[in-house]
Amino acid sequence: MSGDGGGMGQMPGAGSPLLEVKDLSTHFFTEDGEVRAVRDVSFELYPGETLGIVGESGCGKSVTALSILGLVQRPGKVVGGQILFHGRDLLKLSREEMRRVRGRDIAMIFQDPLSALNPVLRIGYQIDEAMHAHDKVPRNEVAARSVDLLNTVQVPDASHRVRDYPHQFSGGMRQRAMIAMGLSNRPELLIADEPTTALDVTVQAQILELLREMNRETGTSIILITHNLGVVAGLCSRVIVMYAGEIVEEAPIEQIFENPQHPYTWALLRSIPRIDFARHDRLRSIEGLPPDLIALPRGCKFHPRCPFRVERCLTDEPSLETVKGGQRAACWVTMKRAYEEMGAADITDTRPGAASGVHPPGFTLPPLGAADDGGPPAPSEVAAP
Ligand SMILES: Nc1ncnc2c1ncn2[C@@H]1O[C@H](COP(=O)(O)OP(=O)(O)O)[C@@H](O)[C@H]1O
Ligand code: SF4
Ligand SMILES: [Mg+2]
Repeated sequence: MSGDGGGMGQMPGAGSPLLEVKDLSTHFFTEDGEVRAVRDVSFELYPGETLGIVGESGCGKSVTALSILGLVQRPGKVVGGQILFHGRDLLKLSREEMRRVRGRDIAMIFQDPLSALNPVLRIGYQIDEAMHAHDKVPRNEVAARSVDLLNTVQVPDASHRVRDYPHQFSGGMRQRAMIAMGLSNRPELLIADEPTTALDVTVQAQILELLREMNRETGTSIILITHNLGVVAGLCSRVIVMYAGEIVEEAPIEQIFENPQHPYTWALLRSIPRIDFARHDRLRSIEGLPPDLIALPRGCKFHPRCPFRVERCLTDEPSLETVKGGQRAACWVTMKRAYEEMGAADITDTRPGAASGVHPPGFTLPPLGAADDGGPPAPSEVAAP
């Protein structure tokens, strides 16, 4: 495992949740059919907590975030559920009320800061405007706060660089400017969607450290969205793993790394690039492809790719069940049983890619047959060169 396990922030149970997402479903009504991008997603976030949402590209992480912020664009629509922020359902707010919540109470930072920054306006002006828009920060404090914020996010020579335009900032600096803007109104919740994906490793680490400090110093709750489990390790105290629009596992960060219960989490862990293994082991991905969200397979949505599937997985959909304190998984088998009952004890090889083509010894995988209507073809080895 890389990183040292976050473990900061308040744990569930401390007071009432800041955010409660209940049975959220968001679909896209396309010409090809109804894309069921997010289905029955439920989770809670407590004040000061740092939560990671991980999963492969296309699993519904961004759509979940956009749903919380009321930013899902047509042909998408939230078709069910509740999003309670301090107990108030954001889905019931008017457009104007939601605009006030965004940026003031809940801020979001994206992978691409250029999409959030206006190229023809100075950085400082844009941060000032973010504050003016909500009138939460007294007007006479705005200009000084912009410089302070840029200092806080470690933009060198901030008092001069507030006058720069976005193109005069490097990628890492723009990301810092966007974080400064996001934090300008002292939001209670910051949603960071792949904030470091476009950056090189060194800058990535600096940005994560910055978010960690923000959380520690201001108590801002953070939802960090990433496809890389390695990235959540250093920041988040709890993790949600999404697969094909659903939560398949949720656990404190240590348990995700030390005792993953869903085969998909297990496979994800093995796909984290590690520098301590031989080169050919590094760039393996999970075998097979995620399902078509218009024609989802029956049963467990992961079954076409799962090395542990049993007959039942092909027809019955498992729901999230508590495995042990704070850990939930949606799986008929779960890794613990897979290890104990299927004699999979020697699958302790946690090298990346080890899940590819590996099955518990003495265990015959049920074929993908009649029970499987729709869904992707049988898994094939997908390994990067
Ligand atoms: N504008 C759109 N039109 C149709 N489908 C969409 C649209 N945006 C997203 N989706 C669907 O929603 C799924 C989840 O997308 P997203 O949340 O962006 O994934 P990610 O986990 O990579 O952030 C995608 O796989 C795609 O099928
Ligand atoms: S329910 Fe079955 S197919 Fe799904 S992850 Fe668990 S073992 Fe694999
Ligand atoms: Mg995304």
